[in-house]
Amino acid sequence: MDTTRQLTPLDRFLNDTQRALDTVFGAPGAQRPNPSRDVAQIELDDDERRHASGLMRINHVGEVCAQALYCGQAAVARDETTRAHLLAAAQEETDHLAWCADRLRELDSRPSLLNPVWYAGSFAIGALAGLRGDGWNLGFVVETERQVEAHIDEHLDSLPPADARSRAILEVMKADEARHADHAEAAGARVLPQPVPTLMAAASKVMKAVAYRI
Ligand SMILES: [Fe+2]
Ligand SMILES: [Fe+2]
Repeated sequence: MDTTRQLTPLDRFLNDTQRALDTVFGAPGAQRPNPSRDVAQIELDDDERRHASGLMRINHVGEVCAQALYCGQAAVARDETTRAHLLAAAQEETDHLAWCADRLRELDSRPSLLNPVWYAGSFAIGALAGLRGDGWNLGFVVETERQVEAHIDEHLDSLPPADARSRAILEVMKADEARHADHAEAAGARVLPQPVPTLMAAASKVMKAVAYRI
């Protein structure tokens, strides 16, 4: 149901705020079942558990950032179709967010303490990208999704071999991210000029280094 047309700027602001608080402090529920639900839980030793937690915390932060980027972009999108596209993508990221949070709990770990910072920064970057126009907005989606897909690939290699539950989650996420990028490309994304992709990769490298621990 598309009700965005009737929303006033204040409604939108309140929606955005609610979504931010849910993402950062709440426990958003997934619409699809957790892909690891039927995968046997294998006991990990302390080092394996610490490493798997670090990686899944990075993935959780990546999903917090994706929500924030898409909501920031949607807040300034000029075209209703683009806005709907961005909000639909953000909705699918909610499943990823919930699955990563589930896995962190199973690993006796926690999400990043800096999630409010990651969210605020990504929302601002999303809004700035969005102000340049809808072709840019979609180009930003493509670049974000491709970069997330690449780091999921690294994590699939790096996870302890026994951690089949995290792996099951990441495999579904990877397929979803690839589809998100393809859809944005088909919807008219423009290719972002340098140095934008390089700067995005640098920011994501900093995020990964910090979120692995904090
Ligand atoms: Fe995602
Ligand atoms: Fe995605």
